[in-house]
Amino acid sequence: NDSLMEELVGLCKRRGFIFPSSEIYGGYNGFYDYGPLGVELRNNIKNAWWRDFVQRRDDVVGLDSSIIMHPRIWKASGHVDGFSDPMVDCKESKRRYRADQLFSAPVVLDGEPCGYIAYVEGADEASIIKQAKKLRDLLDRKQSKLDEAQLLNSATEFTEVDEVVREKTLGPDAAKIGTLTAPREFKLMFETKVGPLADDSAVAYLRPETAQGIFANYKNVVDTGRVKIPFGIAQIGKAFRNEITPRNFIFRSREFEQMEIEYFIAPEADWKQLHREWLDLCIDWLVSIGLPRESITEDVHPQEKLAFYSQATTDLMFHFPHGEQELWGIACRSDYDLKQHQEHSGKSMEIFDEASKSKFVPHVIEPSLGVDRTLLAVLTAAYCEDEVPNDKGKVETRTLLKFSPRVAPYKAAVFPLLKNKPELVERAEALYKKLQRRWNVFYDASGAIGRRYRRQDEIGTPFGITIDFDTIEKDGTVTLRDRDTCEQRRVSEDELIDFLEEQIEG
Ligand code: GAP
Repeated sequence: NDSLMEELVGLCKRRGFIFPSSEIYGGYNGFYDYGPLGVELRNNIKNAWWRDFVQRRDDVVGLDSSIIMHPRIWKASGHVDGFSDPMVDCKESKRRYRADQLFSAPVVLDGEPCGYIAYVEGADEASIIKQAKKLRDLLDRKQSKLDEAQLLNSATEFTEVDEVVREKTLGPDAAKIGTLTAPREFKLMFETKVGPLADDSAVAYLRPETAQGIFANYKNVVDTGRVKIPFGIAQIGKAFRNEITPRNFIFRSREFEQMEIEYFIAPEADWKQLHREWLDLCIDWLVSIGLPRESITEDVHPQEKLAFYSQATTDLMFHFPHGEQELWGIACRSDYDLKQHQEHSGKSMEIFDEASKSKFVPHVIEPSLGVDRTLLAVLTAAYCEDEVPNDKGKVETRTLLKFSPRVAPYKAAVFPLLKNKPELVERAEALYKKLQRRWNVFYDASGAIGRRYRRQDEIGTPFGITIDFDTIEKDGTVTLRDRDTCEQRRVSEDELIDFLEEQIEG
């Protein structure tokens, strides 16, 4: 819901996870910067993915291709001609809207049908009625642009303003829509120019997906001779799309990062089964980084909505604060991309398969995941409030992020019970330095111990380690506190290290 999203945006800003880009200049729509905690969380997500899908597998190798590639790649892939969204402009405000986010509603006012209005998803009641009244005035003066509005009539139709209001929740964008231009195609690729020439031959693109870098290097990887069918090439990297309406925080932005695999298989392989296997692997991986299994659902694209080259696509959907939305697309793309590059480059994309002693252009299964979207999912799943007793035994509400130890920015925090006792401080600093050699850990000596725990709860540090007088005077054990249950137990240093290793590295 909206308030959860607001809480997350606020927490991310306050605690240094995510800032709006260029904030000192008023921000820049569709761009975000990751602060000290955000960059740790982000790196941990990427490392977990790379570890599980590349390093822990025998059949997947990695790649890091350039962001700007030969423009012919985007011609061959179909992006130059086809990668666009239908868009309309509001003539009055000059604002742009994605046509598929617009709805038109036949409006009945005072029992009298008076035409259609267009509005964006999330429009509120007052603005729709205001808009409807404006429309009636226009009709009266016969200046209406009804046909254009009707053109935009997309997924939803309503017969009464009341129904519109019932279906749609409040949103900020609504009232500003006036007369709209007819829909036109809006190119999503960012253009730039490469080299000293200023003419059209210098036009190049920032990649809108990392996948094409994989297809473009497929031959190089095959020719190094270390892979055999079936095998995958994986890549993590930035992608750029000039989204018309970036929204919902980092869910849809203009600069984002993808983690993609092209998994090459024989044309006669049982792709349906492999697709299922990849879906299960992907779900298990999301669970391993802390998403509850029940929050992930599958959206199977119906046959009639698939691109002509696609055999099947299933999206893994997650329950984000703004609703159930695509997190991970797992597509069977046949041999379309390699065949396109074969045709456009004139280079053979065939592979000789030792097992079957045959040559073919492989088909691919493509699991494609956004880093930022995963991070938003991780934050959504981790965010919660509960009630715990404070130092004085009174119940207080705390905000916490229940990150899995695998992705948590800090794995543990080390506290000397008191900061004015040098023997405690020394011992705590020594343990901190020791842990820091392996993991990202936090040291905090100031304030009441309860306050220090709370600060770590809010940034999702799974374990608190306190050095107290028993540590130095008795048996050397430390107090280990669990973030989620607040339970504390005493452990030796060796036990502590084994425990952390098990929890963090799994
Ligand atoms: N190579 C296939 C491909 O790029 P896509 O569905 O367009 O497919 C794949 O994108 C994934 O990339 C999405 O499921 C999403 O996680 C992420 N993604 C796409 N556009 C994004 C955007 N504007 N902002 C953030 N993440 C995005």
